[in-house]
Amino acid sequence: MRDRIERAAEWLKESEFAIALTGAGISVESGIPAFRGSQGLWDKYDPAEYATIEAFMSDPFKVWKMLKELYETVRRAEPNAAHRALAELEAMGKLRAVITQNVDSLHQRAGSRNVIEFHGSGETLTCLSCGGKFRIEDIDLENIPPLCHCGGILKPDVVFFGEPIPPEALKSAFELAERCDLLLVVGTSAQVYPAASIPRIARDSGARVVEINLEPTPLTHEVSHLFIEGKAGEILPEIAQLVKT
Ligand code: OAD
Repeated sequence: MRDRIERAAEWLKESEFAIALTGAGISVESGIPAFRGSQGLWDKYDPAEYATIEAFMSDPFKVWKMLKELYETVRRAEPNAAHRALAELEAMGKLRAVITQNVDSLHQRAGSRNVIEFHGSGETLTCLSCGGKFRIEDIDLENIPPLCHCGGILKPDVVFFGEPIPPEALKSAFELAERCDLLLVVGTSAQVYPAASIPRIARDSGARVVEINLEPTPLTHEVSHLFIEGKAGEILPEIAQLVKT
């Protein structure tokens, strides 16, 4: 594994426009469960019943019960060594952007500045009736679903299945994928599209693709040039340290 970590660091040093794509796996070491795999959120909650926009519309109370639990977990979470390593690489001028599928804001809290939130953000909510905007810290989650002054139901600005990707995020992410010469893919099962198409676009545009995951994914043999098996919170800091020296 050490030789792979060294190779990734060498590639980063050679690179002129490196970016990262992250998924739920990068926040697991912060105590936030991933969606798939053992102890994944979708084991406990069927996504068809909890993660589609139709489910939210038809039973907001039920979906908000899950969201409340998630918000409580995210509130307790702190960025981990993997988030910090990506922020450090950006500060060193070696990473231009992080495209994340996560909605937990841990990249920003770790110090990353250029973060593309591909699946939206849990920080803000929108009233489904009047379009009013709210911040999560101003919302009392004792009574769910939370309501707007107008009586409308508030929905977090996260992408549910069946909803479009925020257009600006989609545009920036695809532009970055075409432009980068190195892509770090960290902690994503690469099963949800269009996010999962980003590594392929990067590779087809000439980028090297380095994947860090606990286990192989559909990308590993087809798209990734280098697969580093293990915890992001251990591997990324080692890479960042080598890039520094
Ligand atoms: P998944 O839960 O599908 O995948 C998490 C990946 O992280 C798995 O491949 C794990 O092996 C890996 N992993 C877990 N712990 C890790 C660690 N410590 N270090 C490195 N890798 C680790 O999460 P995503 O791919 O992000 O979308 O899921 C994509 C989308 O599916 C989410 O954004 C969400 C979900 O449904 C929506 O809700 C629209």
